[in-house]
Amino acid sequence: MKILVTGCAGFIGSTLAAKLLGEGRDVIGVDCFTDYYDRWIKERNLEPLLPRKNFRFIEQDVATLDVRSILERGDAIAHEAAQAGVRASWGSNFQTYTHHNITATQSLLESVKDLGLSRFVLAGSSSVYGDALRLPTFEDDTPQPISPYGVTKLASEHLCRLYHKNYGVPAVVLRYFTVYGPKQRPDMAFHKWCKAALADEPLPLFGDGEQTRDFTFVDDAVAATAAALEAPNVEGEIINVGGGRRITVNGVLGVLESIHGRPIKRTDKGRQKGDVRHTGADVSKAERLLGFSPKVSLEDGLRLEYAHMKKLYGF
Ligand SMILES: NC(=O)c1ccc[n+]([C@@H]2O[C@H](COP(=O)([O-])OP(=O)(O)OC[C@H]3O[C@@H](n4cnc5c(N)ncnc54)[C@H](O)[C@@H]3O)[C@@H](O)[C@H]2O)c1
Repeated sequence: MKILVTGCAGFIGSTLAAKLLGEGRDVIGVDCFTDYYDRWIKERNLEPLLPRKNFRFIEQDVATLDVRSILERGDAIAHEAAQAGVRASWGSNFQTYTHHNITATQSLLESVKDLGLSRFVLAGSSSVYGDALRLPTFEDDTPQPISPYGVTKLASEHLCRLYHKNYGVPAVVLRYFTVYGPKQRPDMAFHKWCKAALADEPLPLFGDGEQTRDFTFVDDAVAATAAALEAPNVEGEIINVGGGRRITVNGVLGVLESIHGRPIKRTDKGRQKGDVRHTGADVSKAERLLGFSPKVSLEDGLRLEYAHMKKLYGF
């Protein structure tokens, strides 16, 4: 069985591919190096994967990928490719989001609909909940995204549901809640904060710092994804993947200051359109269907991300 990992040069895709290769799986990675952030960072993510003998990399847009020439019956897909980021999804950028998140997903599903895949896992997002109706949030709570990005991620979920119902594509959606750890995207808060702290610059703070997030360490998100590639009875399901604990942004900064060993200055960037106030996942469905349990504490995970950023930027 081969596993196609789309978005394989990205943060989560490259971490997932490394885990699957470590388990002796055959992995095909696809990425088109969107310009959302620097290509050298994505190349660095790919570097350790390229020499592996059971790994093949294809530089290509998923929307134009000839999937039938690389996959066969029984193979699986982890569809991680997307245009990420809430704040950049307004205005004329929206077209980029509809292309990478909706058109590319539809095109991938269309090309595999009769292939007999063993599984199709979509990287979904907690952003579909918007300002959650209740905390923790359950999978059957009404999605009400408050960002254009969230709208495109919800559309990609619906496409999975359509292709599952109409063509039997064995699709499962994982709604990741803010993922962090080594290789985190440069637009994400912990990446910016670690970099700013290391450079002794003020770190950008959006909002009053009392907003809360359910942060998920990347290895935990990837473990859930690997489980979803094979678990029985998950086709057609939507499953939350969260860290199991909510913490305020100010609380995270306290942890980061203790890792850094001294106080870190902040610059107030105000509240951003599309940013939700709180997120929190009920993960009982993931526990039941995927045997999921988050293993890495925020303190340990943030320490690993800090160490990664120190190396990445040569501090
Ligand atoms: N990081 C998070 O906190 C988080 C939270 C919720 C959901 N997600 C979802 O997880 C997935 C991975 O996110 P990430 O943080 O690793 O982002 P990332 O930007 O680091 O990785 C995505 C990769 O996909 C590639 N890509 C985008 N469109 C493509 C296309 N059409 N064809 C081929 N490659 C394409 C990009 O070049 C990039 O390398 C995304 O679907 C994202 O929406 C991430």
